[in-house]
Amino acid sequence: MKPWSPDSWREFPIVQQPEYPDKNKLNTIESELNAAPPLVFAEETRSLYKSLADVCEGKAFLLQGGDCAESFSDFSATNIRDTFKTLLQMAVVLTYGGKCPVVKIARMAGQYAKPRSSDYETINGVSLPSYRGDIINSFEFTEEARIPDPARLMKAYHHSASTLNLLRAFAQGGLADLHQVSRWNMSFVAANPLRDKFQQMANRIQDALEFMEVCGIDATVAPSLKETHLYTSHEALLLGYEQALTRRDHLSGDWYDCSAHFVWIGERTRQLDHAHIEFFRGIKNPIGVKVGPGMQPDDLIKLIDALNPENIPGRLTLITRMGADVLPEKLPALVQKVKSEGRNVVWTSDPMHGNTEKASTGYKTRSFNNILREISQFFAVHKAEGSYPGGVHLEMTGQHVTECIGGAYGLSDEDLAQRYRTQCDPRLNADQVLELGFLVADLLKDARDRV
Ligand code: TRP
Ligand code: MN
Repeated sequence: MKPWSPDSWREFPIVQQPEYPDKNKLNTIESELNAAPPLVFAEETRSLYKSLADVCEGKAFLLQGGDCAESFSDFSATNIRDTFKTLLQMAVVLTYGGKCPVVKIARMAGQYAKPRSSDYETINGVSLPSYRGDIINSFEFTEEARIPDPARLMKAYHHSASTLNLLRAFAQGGLADLHQVSRWNMSFVAANPLRDKFQQMANRIQDALEFMEVCGIDATVAPSLKETHLYTSHEALLLGYEQALTRRDHLSGDWYDCSAHFVWIGERTRQLDHAHIEFFRGIKNPIGVKVGPGMQPDDLIKLIDALNPENIPGRLTLITRMGADVLPEKLPALVQKVKSEGRNVVWTSDPMHGNTEKASTGYKTRSFNNILREISQFFAVHKAEGSYPGGVHLEMTGQHVTECIGGAYGLSDEDLAQRYRTQCDPRLNADQVLELGFLVADLLKDARDRV
């Protein structure tokens, strides 16, 4: 194997990349990005690594969530705050109900590049290059808008920096304080019975905090009561951008992709002899790989060995996305193989991407029922195989949207038109996330009782 460098991936075949008409501009912007400050600090990334090692050993649970794709047009303090609160709301339900520390990773501050199933999109007989995420081209259906523009790399970097700035402020500056639990309720359906359930839990937490204060334990002696760590992540698809933000850490001498704490490889770009595997093998971040129903057990071991040859716990997260019906058929053989070969991985469930369907009204949607079914099956398989169900990976938003059908209010195909806002895949809304939170907390509690 040739030595690795941040640009060694350029020698390998690659898919899902844009063709930039203006190569000079691309080079200039990549150099500017390479000179710009990193978005995250290697030491933070190492602390996430340690937390994921805890997940690997069954001592914590991973909650990863956010938009399918962030967009420049939805970029606002309100949206960032609301998704942050929705994540915290689910995190606290899992922490309390599952009796388990929760590692929190947002799909935010960099989730701007999207793989597409087709290079072209056709509407009313007109074919244009597909939209590939705001870091590449624009969603608008015009010829001009769909031309890949290198200036968007810089814009995505600045949007990521300011999103991250606000997330850090929220996590450390008071909004994540456990005294604020009742303020994180993002449910917008007044009649949602889970609002009461959530409020009751908030009251019990408040009670516990007051009791501990009387005993002399408050945020001055235990700062973790008033703050949290929210890490960032995205699919590292656009390798020119990722390379530009990859830096050598002075403390350890290792290379880190400093565009986010955690990055993952999608199902469409994880070919063993391709560029993405080459890039990922050299960075020291904790990383993820999406694993679909077509994965064979032997190939999975090859993939694991390419990305985590030293078998370090916390390095590699396998994000399974199979579909509710297919998972019970395909996952057991993979789990058995990984177990019998003694590989250390974090197993998490992405219950979204294998359950996409077309509603009778034409919208791309997902049903809450199938999402929950895939998660339940994921827990059941790990229970049967004696391995640990380490987390969930959700597409969700704090915005009031109607994109996924089902849930306690039975959103129907007809309801989708009301607030269908996504530029990409359908997301769970805050009520659906809350409902899922309580259901997953029960599954988690059951799994934890066995650890
Ligand atoms: N610091 C702890 C943690 O992050 C406790 C905590 C503070 C917390 N704020 C939180 C837990 C918000 C969940 C949600 O786990
Ligand atoms: Mn998606």
